[in-house]
Amino acid sequence: MPHPSEDTSCRISKPDGGVPTTLRVNGHRHVLTLDPRATLLDTLRDTLHLTGTKKGCDHGQCGACTVHVDSRRVNACLVLAVAAHDCDVTTIEGLGSPEALHPLQAAFVEHDGYQCGYCTAGQIMSAAALLHEPCGDSDDEVRELMSGNICRCGAYGNIIAAIQDVRGKR
Ligand code: FES
Ligand code: FES
Repeated sequence: MPHPSEDTSCRISKPDGGVPTTLRVNGHRHVLTLDPRATLLDTLRDTLHLTGTKKGCDHGQCGACTVHVDSRRVNACLVLAVAAHDCDVTTIEGLGSPEALHPLQAAFVEHDGYQCGYCTAGQIMSAAALLHEPCGDSDDEVRELMSGNICRCGAYGNIIAAIQDVRGKR
């Protein structure tokens, strides 16, 4: 029986050279070799330098890191990058461009749906997924589906107005 300090069974070992992983991000294919412990959030920001996706809590609580994986919204801080192998990932950089804003981006500008802007990428990525999810017409139902996205500035009223505008509900 080994002494507890000698038991290595719980240690996470990094394979030599990392894990080969292919990510398709905003239509671009990236062939990477990743630490299996790397989150999708850190990989997007630190490896691919796509810093539009923000790190707030890093614990799945704030929604600042929301991206789409195969068209579904996820908290990128809770997804291992290797788990997104061969998936299509969309970040805020892939949603629209300064010359051709996504309708939600334009609506957030028009309705002042932000103050400091730190939560905004996550809010917009969640809202973009919501457009294709079953959601009732009311503001309350949108609030419920957006409840995973926290805004410390309290811009909620204008965020809901922007989303409802794009949905044609006001
Ligand atoms: S940083 Fe991912 S939910 Fe907060
Ligand atoms: S605009 Fe500042 S946290 Fe939402």
